[in-house]
Amino acid sequence: MKKRLAIIGVFLSLGLLAFSTYKKPVVKSTDPADIEQKVDSVLALMTLEEKIGQMVQYNGSWDVTGPATGTDNEKKLENLKNGLVGSMLNVTSVEHTREAQKIVMENSRLKIPLIFGYDVIHGYQTMFPVPLGESASWDLELMEKTARVAGRETAAAGVHWTFAPMMDISRDARWGRIMEGAGEDPFLNSKIAVARIKGFQGEDLSDAKTIAACAKHFAGYGFAEAGRDYNTVNVGIYELNNTILPPFKAAADAGVATFMNSFNEIDGVPATASTYLQRDLLKGDWDWDGFVVSDWGSITELIPHGVAKDKKAAAKLVVKAGSDMDMEGGAYESSLKELIEEGKVDEKLIDDAVKRILRVKFRLGLFDDPYKYCDEAFEKSELYSEANQQVALEAGKKSIILLKNENDILPISNSIKNIAVIGPLANDKDSPLGNWRAHAVENSAVSVLEGIKNHAPKGVKVSYAEGAKLSTGDRSFLNPMTFNEDDKSGFAEAEKLAKASDLVVLVVGEDAFQTGEGRSQANIGFAGVQDDLIKTIQKANKNVVMVLMNGRPMDLNWSAKNIPAIVESWFLGSQHGNAVGEVLFGKYNPSGKLPVSFPQNSGMEPLYYNQKSTGRPDGGAQVTYSHYTDSPREALFPFGFGLSYTTFEYGDIKLSANSFSENGEIEATISLKNTGEMAGEETVQLYVHDLVGSITRPNLELKAFKKVSLEPGESKTVKFTIDKEMITYFTANKKWEAEAGDFEVMIGGNSVDLKKANFEFK
Ligand code: NOJ
Repeated sequence: MKKRLAIIGVFLSLGLLAFSTYKKPVVKSTDPADIEQKVDSVLALMTLEEKIGQMVQYNGSWDVTGPATGTDNEKKLENLKNGLVGSMLNVTSVEHTREAQKIVMENSRLKIPLIFGYDVIHGYQTMFPVPLGESASWDLELMEKTARVAGRETAAAGVHWTFAPMMDISRDARWGRIMEGAGEDPFLNSKIAVARIKGFQGEDLSDAKTIAACAKHFAGYGFAEAGRDYNTVNVGIYELNNTILPPFKAAADAGVATFMNSFNEIDGVPATASTYLQRDLLKGDWDWDGFVVSDWGSITELIPHGVAKDKKAAAKLVVKAGSDMDMEGGAYESSLKELIEEGKVDEKLIDDAVKRILRVKFRLGLFDDPYKYCDEAFEKSELYSEANQQVALEAGKKSIILLKNENDILPISNSIKNIAVIGPLANDKDSPLGNWRAHAVENSAVSVLEGIKNHAPKGVKVSYAEGAKLSTGDRSFLNPMTFNEDDKSGFAEAEKLAKASDLVVLVVGEDAFQTGEGRSQANIGFAGVQDDLIKTIQKANKNVVMVLMNGRPMDLNWSAKNIPAIVESWFLGSQHGNAVGEVLFGKYNPSGKLPVSFPQNSGMEPLYYNQKSTGRPDGGAQVTYSHYTDSPREALFPFGFGLSYTTFEYGDIKLSANSFSENGEIEATISLKNTGEMAGEETVQLYVHDLVGSITRPNLELKAFKKVSLEPGESKTVKFTIDKEMITYFTANKKWEAEAGDFEVMIGGNSVDLKKANFEFK
């Protein structure tokens, strides 16, 4: 009876939608049971074509406010009118999303609203640090906050859904997309993924100031062989579960609305066609009820992958594997109906996919009001607001890492009266915006030069010389970047300025588009003539502070030996220069820590801290084959590393007990003292080493961290709880278990300088 009423209710509201002047219903669909009933009711009204339509996502490749030109677009418009499309991507702004929604609401039979998706990776118009950079803050509240602001700006622009956060663990700096994630560690990645999801989605998805998030790329994309984008991935079941999947599980548990699958194969099976990942794990064991969108064309890519002979075969494989929506691939649209009519695909699979898509649309409140994100006044007041700029500044400062500071050259002392700001990125107002910059306005960031001028004390002279250009030519997608390899005509002026100044701030690194999709590099050193520029400037003046701008770990070997201070500033977004300015002049004490290892050279990649010991760990040069013969094997700057303008001293670890069992726990405490002269913040990290496991175990794994602020001379006791969850992993039984045995717990300010203690799990 209840169900029949709901069906009638849906008929009535769909009937209401048929009037061109749409009226908001009084009752909102936020109650889960209510939503389920409505989803079933809508499904019961749909034809097979309409159901398949919900599984189709189009790129907004034409201006929706003008005529759709070109056969393909005309056909797409027709399909939208006929209710044969569930979603569009890359349609943005209130004006455009309203127009596109109107096409569906005013023409289609059932008037099922479109869901609009867009890549909001680190901001919509206000840019925050690129995700890898922001992860260096290790500040979960901050990352929730920046995602909330990015989500608000996105919602204000009429968009319902971001294709973020990316949670691909990556250990390979050559991979251009390392910039989009949270680095190499599964624990840190999981925490950050959840914070970002909470930020985007808020408490209530139906709030028109929140948007749906998307856990991507499921899975293994960051393990591309040789760091080449889209490349083959070969990881076994243990590595997949213990290293790659934890952030995705955390995202599913946190209620992320959608997942995106991935271009890569894993051990022979393209992720998009993986039943294990999508049906068995995500929708099975993890009991997750949102929908999975394919990556762009990743269903039809099964043809070049060589596992499907045509689109139809690809669609069949993928729909069975549990991928619900086809992003701009045309495979579902062209083949699903035939596959069902031929009895090759069970319509129940379609029903399941459509229910998942409708569920998310109901959760967003789109059935209550398809235009609820279309509020021009909100769009106007929210985008790039002053308040959002303040959040960008806060995020920028907290993401900066002090990598080296010989003789306390930083913060810049009051005795410095002449500062030379030199380098191809010093006066760059565009690169700080990073790649995947959504609707950022070109050249809108505060440059480092501007930031230094804004924050230098009165009376300090700030001069500038570019020295050299970095990139030349085209930055567009998939075009190889070209660099200035020979023009040194600006060197002389820069050298002269360096000689005449008390201190040089040398701003070098990467162009914004050296990282991102399709931006892998075999070498991670300084491109163009930057190496020569660095050496020239260092010869001219020993007081050099290098400010790095980059989206990946770089080879800093020479600079780390020869330049007294190195500040890692990533691409910090709209307020880049001000954040750097505050740090250089000591208005903000840097506290960032590396979320990835920095190697000594490109050949060491992939490099990561949580390595296994191997059968020949540390037996001396002759017998330890895990050494290189021509390079050290240790990171130049290890995972978790970052300095401060003050110093911290760790005491010894104290354990409340030496062992615990099933429901027990141990309290681990350590004292931390600020031994310097400035207030500062330290990220205290706890690692565990499982000494003997049923499979080989990493030498150490991050399992907890805490951020602690201390005044000069102040001490605090930092407490952690060691419990079963901390030692649970995917064991030889292919189950998540804690195995009895001995463990080492390590606590410190990075993954190398650690205090140690032992405990047992019984
Ligand atoms: C391809 C990328 O891999 C994915 O991350 C992105 O969300 C889609 N394109 C849509 O732009």
